[in-house]
Amino acid sequence: MEWKPDRTDKKPIYKQIADYIEREISSGAFSPGSLLPSERALAKELQVNRSTVVAAYEELQSLGIVERKKGSGTRVSTDIWGISHKRIPNWDRYVEDGSFLPNLPLVQRIRMETQKKDLINLASGELSPDLFPIDQFRTILSDQPFMGHLGYDHPQGNEILRETISSHIKEYKNIDTSSSSILITSGAQQALHLIVQCLLKPGDAVAIEDPSYCFSLPIFQSAGLRTFLLPVDEHGIDPDDLICLHKKHRIRMVFLNPDHQNPTGTSLPFTRRKKILELSSEFGIPIIEDDPYSLTSFNGEVNSTLKSMDHNGNILYISSLSKIVASGLRIGWIIGPPQVIQRLADAKQQVDFGHSIFPQWVANQFLESKHFNTHIRMLRKQLKQRRDQIISSLDEFLNGQIECFIPEGGIHMWCKVNGSINEYHLLEESMKKGVTFVPGNVFGSKKGYVRFTFGRGEANLIQEGISRFADALKSIQSNQRS
Ligand SMILES: Cc1ncc(COP(=O)(O)O)c(C=O)c1O
Repeated sequence: MEWKPDRTDKKPIYKQIADYIEREISSGAFSPGSLLPSERALAKELQVNRSTVVAAYEELQSLGIVERKKGSGTRVSTDIWGISHKRIPNWDRYVEDGSFLPNLPLVQRIRMETQKKDLINLASGELSPDLFPIDQFRTILSDQPFMGHLGYDHPQGNEILRETISSHIKEYKNIDTSSSSILITSGAQQALHLIVQCLLKPGDAVAIEDPSYCFSLPIFQSAGLRTFLLPVDEHGIDPDDLICLHKKHRIRMVFLNPDHQNPTGTSLPFTRRKKILELSSEFGIPIIEDDPYSLTSFNGEVNSTLKSMDHNGNILYISSLSKIVASGLRIGWIIGPPQVIQRLADAKQQVDFGHSIFPQWVANQFLESKHFNTHIRMLRKQLKQRRDQIISSLDEFLNGQIECFIPEGGIHMWCKVNGSINEYHLLEESMKKGVTFVPGNVFGSKKGYVRFTFGRGEANLIQEGISRFADALKSIQSNQRS
C-alpha cells in the first residue's frame, strides 16, 4: 500500500484512514463483500496503533459502508448503493462474466514469476535479448529515414511489406503467393485469433495437437469450439488419427505446427505432410499451418511447408518474426485465399484499424536488407549451441532421471521426468530455487513432462538453471519418499 496518513494534516488519522478506504471502495479496488485487511495488518502497514484502525472501521460501519462481525473480520457491505454517495460497479462480477476467457492461473503465475530479476527463465517462449538484431536495427534506423505514410493504411497491412514478405517466403520457404493474399497481423497469435473468430462458430469441432501451443487453447475455449486431440509422437501427429477423429466428430478445421513444434520440438516427416494434405483434400477440411519456427532449423535445411505443397488452396498459412527476429516487433502474417484474407482483414480493421506503420516499416527494411541472412545464420548457430548446452547440462545434473526429445530447430526442449512426479510441486520448488519452466500438462493431456526454453537463456544461465532444477527435483523426490 503506497498511501500513508499525513501526520501534518489537521484531520484525525482515523478519519483519514476511513476516507482512504471509502475512496478505495468507490474506485473498485475493494469490491462489495470483499474482506478488508485485518486491524492488526492494516495498523502495521500504516504504522499506526491498532485502536486507530478500529476507530476508522467503526466510522465506516456507522455509515453502513462496512460490516463487522467478531471473528470474521471487516467486509465491504454487499448493499452499499444509496449509502455511499457513489455507485460502485461490481468489477469482480464483470471480470468473471466476460466471454473472453483468461489464461490458466498457472500460466498467469509463471508470467508473474518471470518478472523477478534473479530467476532463471527457462519458461518464456522467446529468444533472449542478445539474439535480437539490435545493432542492425540501429543501423537501419540511422541510415534510412522513415518514408512511410502516417494515415490509416490498407486493411491487409502495408503494401510494401506484403510484397517483401511475398518474396521472402518464396526465397526461404518456396511458397508462391502475392501481396493480395497476405494479411499482416500482430504476431501469429492475432492470426490464430482472427481465424477462430471469423471462420468458426460455437460448437464446431477442431483437431489440435496434443500437446500443443498453450496460448491457443483459451482462444478455442472462448470461441466455444470443441477441441479434439491428435497425439504427437516423435514425428508429430499421425494422419490416421485425423481420419478417426473426422469420422467421429466431423472436424471443421485442423491446427498444426509442423516444424520444431511448440512444445515438443518435433517435425513432421515429408510422408506425413503428404498424407495430411491428401486427407485435407479428400474431406475438404482446412488446415491451419502455424509456422513460426521452420527457419530456425539448425542445419539450415528448411522442410517443405504444407503451404508450399498445397496446390488446391487447403492451407491457411501463419508465420511471424517473433522467433526469428524479435517478439516485441509484433509482426506476423496469414496467407490464404483472397476471400478469406479479405474477411479477416475486415475483422482486423474492426479490432485495431490495422497494424502500426512503424514496426511494419522496420520489419520491411530488415527483411529487404543483407542483414536478415547474416542474422538468421547467426541465430541458427547460437540456438544449436544452446540446444547442445542444455543437453550437456541435463546429462551432467540429471543423468538417467529425465528423457528428452532432441530438437533439430526451434527453441524448446520437451522432457519426461522419470518416475511419478507432480509437476506443479516441482515447479513451486524450482521457483524457490530460482528457476522456472513450464509443466507439461499446461500444453495438453500428458503427465510428468516439462518444457525448457533454451532459446531464452545464455549458456551459463542454462547450466545454472538446470542445476537448480536438479536440486528442486531432488527435494521433491526426497519429500515424496518421506
Ligand atoms: C506455435 C506458436 N504459434 C504462435 C505463437 C505466437 O507467437 P507470436 O504471436 O509472437 O508470433 C507462438 C509463440 O510462442 C507459438 O509457439
